[in-house]
Order: sequence, then C-alpha cells, then structure tokens
Amino acid sequence: MRTVGILIASDQGSKGLRIDASGVLIRQMVEEKGYQVVHEVMVSDDLPILRDAMLHMADTLKCHLILTTGGTGFSKRDNTPEATVQVIERPCPGIVEAMRWISFQKTPKAMLSRAAAGIRGDSIIVNLPGSPKAVRECLEVILEPLAHGIDILVGDANECASK
Ligand code: MTE
Repeated sequence: MRTVGILIASDQGSKGLRIDASGVLIRQMVEEKGYQVVHEVMVSDDLPILRDAMLHMADTLKCHLILTTGGTGFSKRDNTPEATVQVIERPCPGIVEAMRWISFQKTPKAMLSRAAAGIRGDSIIVNLPGSPKAVRECLEVILEPLAHGIDILVGDANECASK
C-alpha cells in the first residue's frame, strides 16, 4: 500500500480562521487512486515548522508521498519551497515542470508558483499550490506517474529501461 502524508501550510488555517478545502480534496483524490492517507497536519507558514513537519513524515512515518499545499507563491510568508529544499536529498524537477506546464494552460498565473519537489530517503515530497482548483489541476496530472515513481524508489519496479 502506498502511503501519503498531507501538509497544509496556512497561517490563517492554523489559527482556525480558514476552512481547509485543499486538504480535504487531496485526501479524496489520493484515496480514489488507492493511496492510504496516514497523516494530515495543518501548520503555520513558519519555515522551521514546515521543515520539521516534513522531516517527521519522511523519517519517522516513512510516507511514500508527502503532499504539501500552500505557501508556494510570492508572499513574504510563503516558505514551503524553501523548507522543502532544506529537506530533500535529490531534487525532482520533472514533477514541478509538468505541474507548471499543465497549469499554465489553465492560467498564466501558474508561473507564480515556486513549488519544489524531491526525494528524501524513501519519500517523495511535492509542493502543490494552495487553492483547491490548483490542487485538482496538478494532482490530476501527477498522481499516476508518481505511483510508478514510488514503486521504483522503494524497489517494487525497475524494468522501465527494458521496455
Ligand atoms: N496552478 C494551477 N494549476 N491553477 C491555479 O489556479 N494558481 C496560481 C499558481 N498555480 C494556480 C496554479 C496562483 S494565482 C498562485 S499565486 C500560485 O499558484 C501560488 O499559490 P500558493 O501561494 O497558494 O501556493
């Protein structure tokens, strides 16, 4: 079973001032694809808090996939990509290139997401933008190839080169 951790970055949400629609949507979309959500947390946009939440999901919970939402834009409080870059060991630029490419066809504002993605140990960490609309548009594209990526990372698939 492929496992998922969800991290919602939101100053407002962490104070109870905003409803978490994106986290609910991520859970629904990944469960439809057969993933098991093992952890979900909403935290403020403070970089060390974001970093520690990702480390917990990667190193302690060993989530195969860690999906963050929010905090990828230009606000001075948007720290999610910086926290992600501090945690990952191997960047995965293709994932964010694919998200921006598909997203740009929906809105030119897609260029404003600074999302990052990469591997730490047995976990793949992917930043999604904050709005439910953006979450849906990105997850629709990346979830299927990511399942194959997880299988390669944790050792259940290695035959791509022979096909
Ligand atoms: N990506 C998709 N697919 N759809 C969108 O509507 N919105 C953009 C961008 N990426 C958007 C998108 C906008 S308006 C912003 S400001 C950035 O994501 C950053 O969003 P965040 O700060 O909520 O992470």
